[in-house]
Amino acid sequence: MEKILIIDDDKLNLKVLKDTLARVGYNVIEAQNGEIGLQLFRSEHPDLVITDFQMPGIDGLEVLAEIRKLNIGIPIILLTGFGDVVLTIKSIQQGAFDFLEKPIDLQQLKTTIQLALNSVKVSNSLNEVLNKDMSSESMLEENILVGKTPPMKEIFKNIGRISMNKVNVLIQGETGTGKELIARLVHYSGITSHQPLVIVNCSALTETLLESELFGHVKGSFTGSIRDKKGKFELAGEGSIFLDEISEVSLNTQVKLLRVIQELEFERVGGEGIIPMKARIITATNRNLEDLIKEGKFREDLYYRLKVFTIDLPPLRERKDDINDLVIHFLHKLNKRFQKNVVKIGDGVIDMLKAHEWHGNVRELENTILQAIVMSKSDVLERDNITLNNRSNRNLQLRQELPMFRTLADVEKYHIKRILDEVNWNKMESSKILDITRPTLNAKIEKYNLTQELSDYSETD
Ligand SMILES: Nc1ncnc2c1ncn2[C@@H]1O[C@H](COP(=O)(O)OP(=O)(O)OP(=O)(O)O)[C@@H](O)[C@H]1O
Ligand SMILES: [Mg+2]
Repeated sequence: MEKILIIDDDKLNLKVLKDTLARVGYNVIEAQNGEIGLQLFRSEHPDLVITDFQMPGIDGLEVLAEIRKLNIGIPIILLTGFGDVVLTIKSIQQGAFDFLEKPIDLQQLKTTIQLALNSVKVSNSLNEVLNKDMSSESMLEENILVGKTPPMKEIFKNIGRISMNKVNVLIQGETGTGKELIARLVHYSGITSHQPLVIVNCSALTETLLESELFGHVKGSFTGSIRDKKGKFELAGEGSIFLDEISEVSLNTQVKLLRVIQELEFERVGGEGIIPMKARIITATNRNLEDLIKEGKFREDLYYRLKVFTIDLPPLRERKDDINDLVIHFLHKLNKRFQKNVVKIGDGVIDMLKAHEWHGNVRELENTILQAIVMSKSDVLERDNITLNNRSNRNLQLRQELPMFRTLADVEKYHIKRILDEVNWNKMESSKILDITRPTLNAKIEKYNLTQELSDYSETD
């Protein structure tokens, strides 16, 4: 019979858990605080520990850390009343087998215990992450990621799990779902968080420039290369390289990427020396790579090398219960940035936001809150100040005032701006609608000095 130690200062909870697990046939021992728990751990040698997080005296994370010093393999399940990303990741990193939120779903608890007891290799590499440095922890808190809904919590748990090794991670999700934020989280919660994170937007550059950006070049290797330049792979060192919009990489460059991953080395463009590649590759895409593979636009072998671990970010409309927390988070963030003080949420606002479809996902929500804050004359986020963009009324708005055009360039400028606005400045979608490449679109944006007005700050921060 397996022995389970439960540590919880809440007597009622302790009893419920004990009775439930005893009924299933476990030998249950209980402790009402961390100290007694640790004593019992030493004398009783349980097979599994369940501990509350918040307790007077020694808390759950400390219990976890202490037990880990004594026994590296024993599964520990943490219970908590908070839905806290940092805590979730920390506890998983420090070797918690799982993290369950109160009120405890007893069925889920039983399943988790079974899983934990069955799994042999729960905590092989845990020691490595026990001594994390502080700087990465503060980075973790800076890149705040809101999400308490089940799919988001599952993602955070998985990030905790993969943080112990350097697997390549592919992040998939619609535009504005938070892929870049997740990429940062993957890096800063990982074992190489003290190494650099280097970000490359693969859609912004032509093939030649992208390759020189990635691999570096030697002076004179192509027009404009006036001095030697280190590439991003080199700059990432033993950290992470984040290749955003990986779907936009040309087939030629894909071959080169594949080679780097397979051979773990590369050469600068025009160079001869071999440089070792040690970085972890994180990629993101808002297009379905499997479709692109079928169309012959993306290499299947590269795909499998990149998606050793996949994170699928659900669209906001599938996690509407996060909207409330997101609004609070954005009010906090944007008040600071725009020196406003909108601290209350008006009646019906959340319901109204929950009814919207959010095709631009979290970014669209953030922009909506920003506009409302700017419009607001009091400390309340009012329904009246919130403008929800659905495509039809945006088109209507656009049709209302047609400016006087003189030149072809005027027409082009207006048309591009209009399409960009229509799709919330999603350049990928715009370039598809306009039937031009991303680099061409970028060049035109620059040429005409186009900006997203109120909402373009999110791209540049
Ligand atoms: N869960 C979240 N909590 C807090 N802020 C978020 C969250 N998800 C996204 N954001 C914010 O929304 C904006 C868009 O996020 P991000 O740039 O990561 O999206 P993306 O998926 O990379 O979009 P795209 O596909 O258009 O590049 C950012 O300002 C980001 O800070
Ligand atoms: Mg992005």
